[in-house]
Amino acid sequence: MCQSAAFGTMLRAAAKTLSVSSTTSVSRVISLSTRHYCERTPTKLRVSEAVSGAELGANVKVQGWVRSVRPQKENLFLHVNDGSCLQSLQIVAGSELNDPLLTFGSAVEVTGVLRKSPHQKQPFELEAHQIHVVGECNPVDFPFKIKERHGLEYIRQFPHLRCRTNAFSSLLRIRSEATTAIHSYFKESGFVQIHTPVITSNDCEGAGELFEVEPSGPDYDEDERFFSVPAFLTVSGQLHLEVMSGAFSRVYTFGPTFRAENSQSRRHLAEFFMVEAEVSFTQSLEDLTKVMEDMFRSATEHVLARCAEDVDLFHKHVTPGQRGNVDAMLKKKFPMITYSEAIDILNRSSQKFDFPTDWGCDLQTEHEKYLVKHCGNTPVFVTDYPYDLKPFYARDNQDHPKHTAAAVDLLVPGVGELCGGSLREERLDRLQARLEEAGLEDTYSWYLDLRRFGSVPHGGFGLGFERYLQCILGVQNIKDVIPFPRFSRSCLL
Ligand code: 4AD
Repeated sequence: MCQSAAFGTMLRAAAKTLSVSSTTSVSRVISLSTRHYCERTPTKLRVSEAVSGAELGANVKVQGWVRSVRPQKENLFLHVNDGSCLQSLQIVAGSELNDPLLTFGSAVEVTGVLRKSPHQKQPFELEAHQIHVVGECNPVDFPFKIKERHGLEYIRQFPHLRCRTNAFSSLLRIRSEATTAIHSYFKESGFVQIHTPVITSNDCEGAGELFEVEPSGPDYDEDERFFSVPAFLTVSGQLHLEVMSGAFSRVYTFGPTFRAENSQSRRHLAEFFMVEAEVSFTQSLEDLTKVMEDMFRSATEHVLARCAEDVDLFHKHVTPGQRGNVDAMLKKKFPMITYSEAIDILNRSSQKFDFPTDWGCDLQTEHEKYLVKHCGNTPVFVTDYPYDLKPFYARDNQDHPKHTAAAVDLLVPGVGELCGGSLREERLDRLQARLEEAGLEDTYSWYLDLRRFGSVPHGGFGLGFERYLQCILGVQNIKDVIPFPRFSRSCLL
């Protein structure tokens, strides 16, 4: 008999011998028959409230998933987690409440009284008088095993189940808190949030990495475009933010972004979240780098303070040593070097690079990582890239012979490029000339209008949210910091 079938037989035998009241085939209640406990409706508590001693002495109900089961001769110890915090609530019950269905991963509803715990490990515990198994979980088939610390790479194979591990649920809470922190930073700094569209008819970056959008199904004529024009999933909300920056001096957006990059790298996804900001009346790139640096610091300090236990789990068990790196990143003001200085640094280095380091070549990940190390393993701004490397919207520095654009990237330890931004070409004649050169004048006639009517110097940037999480948590692979990773040849679920 296979292990899984044996588990089923065991459950059926157990069901015959236990006194069980069931509401569904898998829903069972095991309770003490003391009338006293049933008199008052229990207060529902989240685990985060229960572990901090809310409603001490009161009749409470906690719902969650079993993280450990320890039956003893007279007592049964369970740990239950509901995703509200890293900690699990200790449940103590008499052994008569034990049930073979109470396995690692099963869903339960526990009613009882919250008491101070005599044990050092946790200040409070729930003395159970009723345990309701809401959903069983066969521990043989369940891919995660009790007391085992599974690696990120292993749990990545189970995108539908990995949120049930401590590491991934911590990651998801950190991600949620970091999102809040970023919104708070912008709100407190006077930015207006704009919902830029997911479907667009422009290729902002001009890199051709677009996913085209057309309906499918028998009711649609393949020869006729749904939107009359080619439409794509957005690669950046920048141009829509630029529209808004003609009326709002500070705007931002934070949403999903799509790139048809045929890359299996550890820092690229086909769908990622980007934070983008646009600031009007800018004097120089420093106006933008200040926003980038302030946002990075503010979000990171917020996450370290509000998600201390979750971040600790990463910094202690998943990526040991990373806490020191984060503290070092926050200590100093981020240095700033020009692209030309960066090229000099690379050319003076004794390290052999795979990609060329001639002036005019784009910086590759290996170069970015070297520059970060060279600058003391802290985030570093690189400014004034070759004009020809940058998209049509980047402001011309009009320098010679090394022709550059007022563009800036923020490079960070462990990741490389985290932010990319620029001053935008606000001068109508120059912008027009560049668009004409690229044959894009008609496509972007509306964009030229922005320069015709009340144009002001402005600029902005985009930050890759998943790369930000990689940077502060020290996670190597970008697929481990997003709930459902999409990349070439993979779109699970
Ligand atoms: O440098 P990028 O391409 O800049 C823009 O899209 C600008 N239009 C943004 C703006 O100025 N409003 O992308 C910005 C950041 C990168 O620095 C990187 O962190 C992230 O987005 N990024 C990706 N993250 C994950 N997977 C990908 N395929 C990414 N491509 C870019």
